[in-house]
Amino acid sequence: MGIWAGLTFCLLAAGVISLAFSIVWRKPDILMNMVVSKADLTAGLILGIAFIISFFIAIAGVVQRNHVTIGLVITNYVLLVDAIGVLVIGTFIWFYTLTERADFNVLWLAATPQVRQELQDKFQCCGYFMPNQSFEISNFCANTTFVNQLNPNVSSNACVTPITAFADYTLNNIFSSIYGFMAIVLCLLLATLCVIKKRQEDERFKKIDAKRGGKGFVKRKVPISKVATASTTSSKPQASRNVIRRFHILIKSKAQLENKQMLSAQDVEELGRINAEIEEMGGLEWYQQMSAVGQGDDRGGGSEKIFVGWLKEMKIHEGRPDKLQLLEVGALKPENYRHSCSWIQNTPIDLRSRHPDIREQDFLLLDPIENQQKWDAISLSLVVNFVPDSKDRGRMLSLANTILKDSGYLFLTLPLPCVTNSRYMTFDHLNSLMEALGFIELRRRWKEGGKMAYWLYEKQHEPRLQDFEKFTKKIILRSGNRNNFNILLTR
Ligand SMILES: C[S@@+](CC[C@H](N)C(=O)[O-])C[C@H]1O[C@@H](n2cnc3c(N)ncnc32)[C@H](O)[C@@H]1O
Repeated sequence: MGIWAGLTFCLLAAGVISLAFSIVWRKPDILMNMVVSKADLTAGLILGIAFIISFFIAIAGVVQRNHVTIGLVITNYVLLVDAIGVLVIGTFIWFYTLTERADFNVLWLAATPQVRQELQDKFQCCGYFMPNQSFEISNFCANTTFVNQLNPNVSSNACVTPITAFADYTLNNIFSSIYGFMAIVLCLLLATLCVIKKRQEDERFKKIDAKRGGKGFVKRKVPISKVATASTTSSKPQASRNVIRRFHILIKSKAQLENKQMLSAQDVEELGRINAEIEEMGGLEWYQQMSAVGQGDDRGGGSEKIFVGWLKEMKIHEGRPDKLQLLEVGALKPENYRHSCSWIQNTPIDLRSRHPDIREQDFLLLDPIENQQKWDAISLSLVVNFVPDSKDRGRMLSLANTILKDSGYLFLTLPLPCVTNSRYMTFDHLNSLMEALGFIELRRRWKEGGKMAYWLYEKQHEPRLQDFEKFTKKIILRSGNRNNFNILLTR
């Protein structure tokens, strides 16, 4: 918007300049009146007025409410006309400079004797092409003898040279300025298109928000290339969290419907509505974008710092014969572990890859036989809570155990409310569940009032199906207004 405003004021300035010069250059000035014709000045005047009118149309267009874009559309049509005007006038003047020697000869011959005398005296020259042709007796060209003895081979003795030099300089400046105006007009045209597009998008998202009861969490879709830019990383954290929360609700509802044996007409309609909302939000791409924002350095960076910090505390990085084979599930960026690449060999995977170095792979579809005991460490950072189905969450942790080497490490991250405010989950319950799966807790980090909880587990043994019993069904552990986060195991 700032750029648009700047360009609009440049257009106004161009209009004022064009208008002012078209008026000022009308004053009697023999040379200027020869160089810039009345027609040129009228064209300049019209151009100036057109720019100023365009400025007011643009202002009238931009002050409308977001959904009224017609004013800006009209502005663009007007700017298109301005551009054509600029092109015609600029090109006409430029073309004139190509034939100015001959053109000024016509003007010289048509000029009154008084005009010719003044020009001869001003430039100390006689005649036009030759000193002794079409000259006038004047102060400088005092008599025929003086004129005849002027050397015709000295170009400055005939008036064509100084006159066309002045005309050249003036006309070049004029058409360069006019083409400069063209840059303003075209940039403003493009900027206006952007403003129209942005307003239409804002309107669209406003409507979506209104449909959802005005919660206002929907944000525009931004190209992935912008992930790491300052503008994205400075988006409001609350906005990112709202999108992420809403996305989780949607994919959970979607999974519940899709898991039904039979779908009623109402279910099908609801599924369509959920899919449309996910689509409108920008789908998984947008969710990842928001998650990446949450991971930005300006928010304390990603969770991998904690994982690496813990591994270092345990001196896992020291004296290794080979690199620690890490499987990073749900990787938004390929280089999360690049600072530790001397001792960690990371394999990032995600449901939807945002980079060629991230393998597109559903963790739940990894072949357990092929991957059995393959990995030294697995990171499931904010991934388990993404999985909509409680049993799939259990499957995910169980599979992590299967594919970890003995004494391998599992780094788990969950939003804190998943354990502190769930009807079905507590820290103790999670730990018992992880023990049943064959993990022992090595480290845990969270703080009262914080947003995240982090765990480091070590694989002690394979999952023991006989210990699964109490984790196969929902057990209400807390009452009250709480969330339903849960993890269930299947035997
Ligand atoms: C909230 S982001 C977490 C990103 C990052 N790990 C972090 O800690 O900020 C969750 C990511 O997990 C990915 N994800 C969810 N389920 C997955 C699965 N079954 N296999 C692979 N990736 C998965 C999603 O596509 C998404 O990119």
